[in-house]
Amino acid sequence: MSKTQSLPRPLHSGTASKGIKGRIRVPGDKSISHRSLMLGALALGETEIHGLLEGEDVLRTAEAMRLLGGAAERGEDGVWRARGRGIGGLREAAEVLDLGNAGTGTRLLMGLVAAYPMVTFFTGDASLRSRPMARVSDPLKLMGAQVIARQGGRPPLAVIGTKDPLPITYKLPVASAQVKSAILLAGLNTPGVTTVIEPEPTRDHTELMLKGFGAKLVVEQTKEGRAVSLTGQPEITGRKIVVPGDPSSAAFPIAAALVVQGSELTIENVGLNPHRIGLIETLLEMGADIRIENERIEAGERVGDLRVKHGALRGVTVPPERAPSMIDEYPILSVIAAYAEGETRMLGLGELRVKESDRLGAMARGLKACGVDVSEGPDWLSVKGTGKPPAGGAEIAVNLDHRPAMSFLVLGLAARKPVTIDDGSPIDTSFPTFVDLMNGIGTGIRLQNR
Ligand code: S3P
Repeated sequence: MSKTQSLPRPLHSGTASKGIKGRIRVPGDKSISHRSLMLGALALGETEIHGLLEGEDVLRTAEAMRLLGGAAERGEDGVWRARGRGIGGLREAAEVLDLGNAGTGTRLLMGLVAAYPMVTFFTGDASLRSRPMARVSDPLKLMGAQVIARQGGRPPLAVIGTKDPLPITYKLPVASAQVKSAILLAGLNTPGVTTVIEPEPTRDHTELMLKGFGAKLVVEQTKEGRAVSLTGQPEITGRKIVVPGDPSSAAFPIAAALVVQGSELTIENVGLNPHRIGLIETLLEMGADIRIENERIEAGERVGDLRVKHGALRGVTVPPERAPSMIDEYPILSVIAAYAEGETRMLGLGELRVKESDRLGAMARGLKACGVDVSEGPDWLSVKGTGKPPAGGAEIAVNLDHRPAMSFLVLGLAARKPVTIDDGSPIDTSFPTFVDLMNGIGTGIRLQNR
């Protein structure tokens, strides 16, 4: 895949003076979309994927799967269809897999290819090439694969898979659904039972989907944590997947409706997996007017509609054990906290330092530039709001990271002065329709002319 380096696209938030109003849907869940393409390629028969997120990260995974012999195609009806090759049916990619900005795609695929007798090369953009991968390589090495990487385990890297993978029992040293999933995906082509123990529960889409495809997977609560055991080399069969709206994307219009006066917004069909709703729990504690309606289970995942109204918010302490269920939502929570009255303390955030950028540092710097009273520690962030709009007016560098980019645009919507971000293009990785969707509900986000 050739990588075209596009020019930075600076965006100006404008001011949403008339309120955020309407009824919208956000694009499909990124985590579930990556997994759908991978599992669809391994299931026998056809897998139909409805509502796949067509963001850059997921399209990179689609391309990687094509190079590994497990292509899914987009139909004219917008439904993606994969004709699976069965577990063990992948083939060696003749090209380097370029996963762009996608940490999830990279880590899950490293697991997927580790239990095959083939060599797979991975690279990505400057952000991805700075991210630690040893957390995935370490357990994969225990299963018999080899990984050759740059210092610190960083990409570009090669996974030299094994033809005789060993099942392992592995206790996660970090709360990471990506690491858990990489091991389980390696376990798919491994004889015997592969077990991952997670001291703190993380998103369980991989487990739900593997079960949905017919794999034998047992989840038990042990004294060491939540143990997930997968029996390898199952025959999994194609199915219909309905990807719910991504709660991590919904967080941005939710935040906009909370901070802009006069707002009332409904977001339909949002994924409400219990391991993903830490932000909603926190916002309710802050006094937000959010109602969940029409709650249901669709294709194994809990979904519902969210009704959000503007109103006063107060600061709270977010406990560290909540971090895995809202790990991607701290940037936008820190923006909402800037509008709330009182201190919001966010604890247990060490993992934010190794996301697409150092999000703790980025949010602390950017909030300060917007006149917010903020302090940071190695793994915590504290934001002191006054209950009034922050100053705003800054130009923020987004460092190839989509979530701070969207967060600062939302901050600008009701700040005393709008905010500019130096590059909006990373937003395409997870929420390619962000600007149009937001402008359709009352914002005036636009390209900043230089
Ligand atoms: C993801 C898990 C999280 C999250 C990422 C998506 C996944 O990462 O930050 O955006 O799909 O499993 P970690 O599991 O590394 O915390």
